[in-house]
Amino acid sequence: MPTVSMTVNGKAASGDAEPRTLLVHFLRETLGLTGTHVGCDTSQCGACVVHVDGKSVKSCTMLAVQANGAEVTTIEGLANGELHPMQAAFREHHGLQCGFCTPGMVMSAIDLVRHNATPSESDIREWLEGNICRCTGYHNIVKAIQAGAQAMKG
Ligand code: FES
Ligand code: FES
Repeated sequence: MPTVSMTVNGKAASGDAEPRTLLVHFLRETLGLTGTHVGCDTSQCGACVVHVDGKSVKSCTMLAVQANGAEVTTIEGLANGELHPMQAAFREHHGLQCGFCTPGMVMSAIDLVRHNATPSESDIREWLEGNICRCTGYHNIVKAIQAGAQAMKG
C-alpha cells in the first residue's frame, strides 16, 4: 500500500492509503480529522470541502494519492486560538442549524472571499451551488458569508 504524505493544517502528515482511497476518507479515518463530513456519495453536497493548495475541493472527488505533497487545510485548521472570522460570522448570523453542512460551507465561503472580497448575494448563491444545506433555507448562510467577508478584510 503506498504511503501518502501531505501537509495538513500546517503539520506534516502521512499514512498508508490504497490507490482507491478518497482524500476525505484519508483525512477522517487515517488522520482522525472528522470535521470534514461525508453527506452523499454523488459529489453533490459539498459537506466534504477542504482546501488543497489554497483552492476549495470536494475531498470525496479526489484520491488521497492525488494530494501527495499538497498543502491541505480542513475545518480544524481554521481557528487559531479564536474562531476564524468566517466561523464567527456563521455563529453570529445563525448560519447553521444541525451543522452537518457547515464545515464545507465555511471552507467554500473562505475560498469565495479570496476570489471576491465583497461578494453580492447572487455571487454567494451561485458559488454555493455545490453546497447543499437541508436545514437553513440558505438565507442566514448568505448573510453570514457577507458578514464574514467584511470581517476577513480586517
Ligand atoms: S460528500 Fe463530497 S460532495 Fe457530498
Ligand atoms: S445546517 Fe443542517 S444541513 Fe445545513
